[in-house]
Amino acid sequence: MSNSTSEHEEPRSFTDVAPYYDELMRQVPYRMWVGYYLLLLSHQDVRPTSILDVCCGTGTMCEFLTEEGYEMAGVDLSAEMIRVAKKKAGRNRHVIQYEVGDAAEFEMGRQFDAALSFFDSLNNILEEERLQGAFHQIAKHIKPGGSFIFDVNTAFAFETDLFDQDNLNKASSLRYQWRGDWNPETQIITVTMNFWKNGQEFQEIHRQRAYPDAMIRAMLERAGFTQIRAFHSYTLNPPRHQSDRIHYCTIKA
Ligand SMILES: C[S@@+](CC[C@H](N)C(=O)[O-])C[C@H]1O[C@@H](n2cnc3c(N)ncnc32)[C@H](O)[C@@H]1O
Repeated sequence: MSNSTSEHEEPRSFTDVAPYYDELMRQVPYRMWVGYYLLLLSHQDVRPTSILDVCCGTGTMCEFLTEEGYEMAGVDLSAEMIRVAKKKAGRNRHVIQYEVGDAAEFEMGRQFDAALSFFDSLNNILEEERLQGAFHQIAKHIKPGGSFIFDVNTAFAFETDLFDQDNLNKASSLRYQWRGDWNPETQIITVTMNFWKNGQEFQEIHRQRAYPDAMIRAMLERAGFTQIRAFHSYTLNPPRHQSDRIHYCTIKA
């Protein structure tokens, strides 16, 4: 993968890494996230039957929420991530509608009671117009009165080297080294991710943009969302200066 794209261009990412994504994310507390999501839904007083996961990746949230009794669907830009998600659903005998699509343009052909987007997925959208497009598309897919809950990384997270991580332990079958390069002017971080697996080396470049709270709120309102609330992640407290992740809860008008 080349790093020659301009900073605002979204690189082709979540491709070579897709088969190893779940292994890499083994420590991620998805079960806790599901509990927190259900808490936020009850805080909104919304009781969905059908839920759409936007940027669903390999479908881990979809799997857990299916087990909770929800009718799940997921959309993701990466065909490779969706391939893994479909395989998992098949293995678990779960019926989940998965589509490959760009959050800013996707079409599922139906509306849902709720939508979610977790794990700072929307930060991967680097242009304001495209994030606005994603909010419009998501709103279009939610019934009036339905819920949209998502999280974002903040500029604080990027300033404090959130993405500088490695596992270079020789005993691990999958080794990696990630380094973030933060540009405070563009508010974009470029993360170079090197992986070593079974003697093979591969690289992915990921970029994320931090969006200020006021901009996110204005975009949500323009897309037809109301009752916007933001929380310091995994709490019901308001965000603080040092929040590295924020969860937004909003209702489709
Ligand atoms: C960090 S992963 C999170 C995946 C999943 N939400 C989870 O919690 O495991 C980010 C995901 O966002 C997807 N993504 C990035 N840009 C996207 C876009 N414009 N439209 C749809 N999906 C996108 C990537 O392909 C990737 O699967």
